[in-house]
Amino acid sequence: MNNIAMEGKEDVLEAWYMDDSEEDQRLPHHREPKEFVSFDKLLELGVVSWRLNADAYETDENLRKIREARGYSYMDICEVCPEKLPNYEAKIKSFFEEHLHTDEEIRYCLDGSGYFDLRDENDRWIRVAVKKGGLIVLPAGLYHRFTLDTNNYIKAMRLFVGEPVWTPYNRPHDELPARKEYVESLSRKEFGTHAVESH
Ligand code: LAC
Ligand code: NI
Repeated sequence: MNNIAMEGKEDVLEAWYMDDSEEDQRLPHHREPKEFVSFDKLLELGVVSWRLNADAYETDENLRKIREARGYSYMDICEVCPEKLPNYEAKIKSFFEEHLHTDEEIRYCLDGSGYFDLRDENDRWIRVAVKKGGLIVLPAGLYHRFTLDTNNYIKAMRLFVGEPVWTPYNRPHDELPARKEYVESLSRKEFGTHAVESH
């Protein structure tokens, strides 16, 4: 998994600091001038990502290696669009409520696209645009939210270690052990040190 070198990762995963406007959440919300965020910066926040071949997900060796190395035994695929997602409007709304989980959130974009917004160490919003082929891992305890972009469609693989727990804890939930551990790891700068794992 250490040597899954991904040409053109920036074609499917791109991150930037968000502006403060109240406009439609599905718009990019770049700052002016644009302020991009590097993969190294994401790693320091504990966010790992890869580019994989989404057309070959059923037989992809790289995906298999990642799942094996990280213990991602559970897998399902869901589509977010009005026709396929029961309770669509309510779900879309709840995805965009700032929350955290007590486990990693692992999403692999098989088709379409979307935005994962996450908080940096100073509580600024970073928007991560994920397109087909992009796999992103948000660590347990990281405050984040999700929205579709103006294409209004994503097909995503969800991975998990063991029996999945999707419970979102809306902010504030700072007393949760998962949150405390995350903040500890951040302040000890423990994340960037495993940088090699994502390459
Ligand atoms: C989730 C995304 C919406 O929790 O953050 O599924
Ligand atoms: Ni989430």
